[in-house]
Amino acid sequence: MSTKTPLFRGKNLVKEFAASSGGPFAKSRKFRAVDDVSLEVAAGETLALVGESGSGKSTTARLVARLMDVTAGTVEFEGQDVTRASGAQLREFRGAVQVIFQDPYSSLNPRHTVERLVTAPLVYQGRKVPGGARKFTRELMERVGLDPMHSERYPSQFSGGQAQRIGIARALAVGPRLVICDEAVSALDVSVQAQVINLLRRLQDEEGFGYLFIAHDLAVVRQIATSVAVMSQGRIVETGLRDEVFDHPQDEYTRTLLNAVPRIDPDWERRRQENRAARRRALSAAGPATEGAA
Ligand SMILES: Nc1ncnc2c1ncn2[C@@H]1O[C@H](COP(=O)(O)OP(=O)(O)OP(=O)(O)O)[C@@H](O)[C@H]1O
Ligand SMILES: [Mg+2]
Repeated sequence: MSTKTPLFRGKNLVKEFAASSGGPFAKSRKFRAVDDVSLEVAAGETLALVGESGSGKSTTARLVARLMDVTAGTVEFEGQDVTRASGAQLREFRGAVQVIFQDPYSSLNPRHTVERLVTAPLVYQGRKVPGGARKFTRELMERVGLDPMHSERYPSQFSGGQAQRIGIARALAVGPRLVICDEAVSALDVSVQAQVINLLRRLQDEEGFGYLFIAHDLAVVRQIATSVAVMSQGRIVETGLRDEVFDHPQDEYTRTLLNAVPRIDPDWERRRQENRAARRRALSAAGPATEGAA
């Protein structure tokens, strides 16, 4: 997909959970939430992972971040196999890969100030805070568009978009190379969403990090993705450069997904409507319609 050496590479990843239904054979029954998934992210690029709810996106993200062990497959980071990394190697990996989740309030300890939240990952890693905690926090706050004078405030004193910026500042603090955004903007209003996406893009330009960007909103994906991987029932059914996947989807499931989700990009929505009209005309020219309007 890319000629660059990948920053991250997941090969044939599998994650099985015990099947939830009971019964005498429940113990031996397994359910594959992630089934033979391979993906790569290059520095400076954004791979978007899309797919219906329950298709295995977050589980894939957890495997990539080593927050969960794989059932099978390998996780490589900067050319090193980190699938079973532990100790110092895992700590180093945890600094290099950061995850930003959907709900900023629940991922930020409400009793900690911004300063404590932002410096905690460094403290956890046993690293010195460059220039002292106050200065370091204020600089990071400025970089993510927050008022640096608010470093002593608590998460509840910020709006949703601002709280997500605190989460971004915290991820930035350790100097990551891969940032995983799991529905990181999904809970925000559309206008706030656009601002946070712009921030994520600017930071990527500045830092050159790779993003694994999970979102169910394809309009958001359109704004940020370099490549897109489409997941369904634990598998990647289609992958390619963003425009290829959006404009020429090869897989039937991808086509369904593209048609199902409401769009906010007016240009794209207009083209989609034109395409649909063209398809309807082709169908009716071909004879009695056997499908509903797609
Ligand atoms: N810890 C777990 N134990 C058992 N089953 C799990 C666990 N985590 C996820 N699953 C199951 O694995 C499947 C994939 O879940 P996952 O959260 O990865 O989906 P998703 O694509 O992120 O969905 P959404 O868009 O709703 O966030 C689901 O059927 C889910 O119930
Ligand atoms: Mg999820």
